[in-house]
Amino acid sequence: MKKKLASALVALGATSALMLSGCSSSSDRSGSDDASGGASAAAGFEAGATIGVALPQKTSENWVLAQNLFEDGLTSDGYKPIVQFANGGVSEQQNQIQAMVQKGAKVIVVGAIDGSQLGTQLKAAADQGVKVIAYDRLVKNTDAVDIYEAYDNFKVGQLQGQALLDGLKERKGDGPYNIELISGSPDDANSKPFFDGAMEVLQPKIDDKTLTVVSGQVSQQETSTQGWEAENAQNRMDTILAGNYKDKDLDGILSPNDTLARAALTSVKQAGKDTPVITGQDSEVESVKSIMAGEQYSTIYKDTTALVNSTIDAVNAYQKGEDPEVNDTKSYDNGVKVVPANLLDPVIVTKENAADVYKDDKTLAPLTK
Ligand code: BGC
Repeated sequence: MKKKLASALVALGATSALMLSGCSSSSDRSGSDDASGGASAAAGFEAGATIGVALPQKTSENWVLAQNLFEDGLTSDGYKPIVQFANGGVSEQQNQIQAMVQKGAKVIVVGAIDGSQLGTQLKAAADQGVKVIAYDRLVKNTDAVDIYEAYDNFKVGQLQGQALLDGLKERKGDGPYNIELISGSPDDANSKPFFDGAMEVLQPKIDDKTLTVVSGQVSQQETSTQGWEAENAQNRMDTILAGNYKDKDLDGILSPNDTLARAALTSVKQAGKDTPVITGQDSEVESVKSIMAGEQYSTIYKDTTALVNSTIDAVNAYQKGEDPEVNDTKSYDNGVKVVPANLLDPVIVTKENAADVYKDDKTLAPLTK
């Protein structure tokens, strides 16, 4: 029955919109496969609709910036936004998404705390014809996600790995070097591409002994930081330093973001060690200051305004019944489907190029003067 309806719609020329939303191939999105539901989803929804934005915890500044940008941007495009953090964790985020659907949201934008724990709520949303946009973090193991809006996570990792090598050469002279690795929260789908991207660059240098990970902790699991919590990274680094670096220098640390970089630097300082070359991500104010002061070596600029704007463009496309723009249809397999993605380009920042990279950023540009 559903199959028949799908082929009828294909014959009617509705192919691309439905293909992208996954409706035509999905057997379990019964709501949007109904005659009326499917047709109305493809035809868009009313201007001024409610749009839900479910953000995770405030584990880095980018999320806090996103809150205001979504509220202002969606409001000025005429929508009624509901933007919420889930500081209490996964079940709070699940409840928020459910409530957004009950309040009639036509699109749910989700920055997942745990990308694998939202299947039930997102399927319920999709069954009502609600469009689901994964924002910054992929949602996994569900076909109830229409599009992924993010910076290229694997590239972030590659840039971090290369920055660590460049920084070591620049600040610590010729190798070999002692390093440690930190990765992000294991429940965040981004942590793997960040780590894999970095290790693509670093592994050959570990293999040829240019780099030694003295603790021996080299897997994503061993290096992970539950909840992206600074305290967890700092405690792990304290233990590593006490157990492995009594009579050794620590030359470099791969850190997946700025918050964890600052936590690791605190640990190193407390252990009375020299400042290691350390990477980061997010261009947080304190880290940009640290970079300009010659401490933290690098960060990544992922302009939150650009990502929020691109996500609101996707909302506007759905409102008109159109397909949002995507530029990657093969990289983000979420375990059930390859999610069409619109990926923006991350930029590596060191003291050398900071003024140039941040020149249009009102908050960060003054820090580079
Ligand atoms: C984001 C990073 C951020 C981290 C912690 C990741 O999903 O992509 O930019 O540093 O979450 O909030």
